[in-house]
Amino acid sequence: MLHLGRGGVRFASSTAAATADTKAAKILDSIIRVNHAGELGADRIYAGQMAVLGKSSVGPTIEHMWDQEKKHREKFEELIRKYRVRPTALLPIWNVAGFVLGAGTALMGEKAAMACTVAVETVIVEHYNDQLRALMEEKNQDDVDQELLETIKKFRDEEQEHHDTGIDLGAEQAPLYDALTKIIKAGCKTAIAISKVV
Ligand SMILES: [Fe+2]
Ligand SMILES: [Fe+2]
Repeated sequence: MLHLGRGGVRFASSTAAATADTKAAKILDSIIRVNHAGELGADRIYAGQMAVLGKSSVGPTIEHMWDQEKKHREKFEELIRKYRVRPTALLPIWNVAGFVLGAGTALMGEKAAMACTVAVETVIVEHYNDQLRALMEEKNQDDVDQELLETIKKFRDEEQEHHDTGIDLGAEQAPLYDALTKIIKAGCKTAIAISKVV
């Protein structure tokens, strides 16, 4: 049976192996596609925040988080090439949507920008934790890519720091904090769901 597995086209020797391999390969494929899209979106959100607040007192803090997002994005660009994963077709949309979200909330003020950070990073931390659980539940741990596992763990911890930074910088005092974070979280979850498949 011919199928696309990690690293390209392969021939599987038995149906059972093919099924297991296809499942592991599918999980890997979906994880890399969605994380690549998400980290690109995050990079653009912080770019949008920097465009508006770069020269304000929170500029250096945003820049530090942005630098980390650039590294996250680079890593998934490396992984998407390494495993020949098809990027989501919606990259151009996430590119623009991310920047608009970052700049738009920043225009509402520093605290609204931080509320955006808190909302986005909350969803990303949950999303990375879900992936870590899925990878750990894989019956055949030999199928689990250790580089991917370590990458997700590291990024999850950094996203948690971004979330905490947002809280420390007064996100919760943003006007309409509850409504704003609810809308942004829902948007992020939708973007994640779409990027897994499209
Ligand atoms: Fe990130
Ligand atoms: Fe982040």
